Amino acid sequence: MTTSVNRERKRFQVQILNRGGDAVKKSGRQDRIIVALDTQDFSEMKRWVKSLKGLISFFKVGSELFTACGKKAVKYVRDQGAEVFLDLKFHDIPATVEASAKAAAGLGVKMFNVHALGGVQMMRAAKQAVKDISPMPWVLGVTVLTSMGENELSDELKIAMPLERQVIHLAKLAKQSGLDGVVASAREVKHVKKILGGGFKVVTPGIRPAWSASQDQKRIVTPRDAFALGTDYIVIGRPITGAKDVKGAALRVIEEIE
Ligand code: C5P
Repeated sequence: MTTSVNRERKRFQVQILNRGGDAVKKSGRQDRIIVALDTQDFSEMKRWVKSLKGLISFFKVGSELFTACGKKAVKYVRDQGAEVFLDLKFHDIPATVEASAKAAAGLGVKMFNVHALGGVQMMRAAKQAVKDISPMPWVLGVTVLTSMGENELSDELKIAMPLERQVIHLAKLAKQSGLDGVVASAREVKHVKKILGGGFKVVTPGIRPAWSASQDQKRIVTPRDAFALGTDYIVIGRPITGAKDVKGAALRVIEEIE
């Protein structure tokens, strides 16, 4: 029995590997995988995007790549026909965030984010900045980083609320400010969706397939479970970009979720 299941599994793996860049898209979940391009090396980033062509159509440009390479990194990904999540987590006075949001929208990114801890006025300023831009990018609020656990929140930051309640509180503020969704752990998705509605997007980093190491992430969830819990987009970095075979790792994730 087990042998025939394994054989079937192997056959499927070979099938999708043979299709190379054209792995079957069955559920649409494949398009909701965002690969984090965390590197300072422009050539390395290009190699990742090229190896994933046809498999991954959404990439995250974060502070590491953006600080090192600037907007040419966004342009490169866009020129390959893929979407960009600009993850710069703006957190500043409203006027500065408004201007930064405008600049982000000008790069043609599909979404970008601000820290919900920046408050309602700041989040409203970000949304205000992009409201006349077409297509309008989604603005997301970062709730509590997935690398943080209950102890950091209470002992270090002296935030008295339990972590999940703090996430819900910040998500409510984000919605009240007109944002399109939040960044949170998949562990909190069900609760966020129940309280704020299914249309309020939840993008979840802290994704770790069972076969990969957790590294500095604490509130981790597997790709399959994240979708089962109702997440809209998963963000996954090192399990794919840190693998010897970047394309093979992406295919394993796709196989798991489809
Ligand atoms: O390599 P790994 O899969 O841990 O990458 C996760 C990515 O998601 C990183 O680029 C990190 O900056 C980002 N992120 C996160 N937690 C958040 C928001 C973004 O880990 N709350």
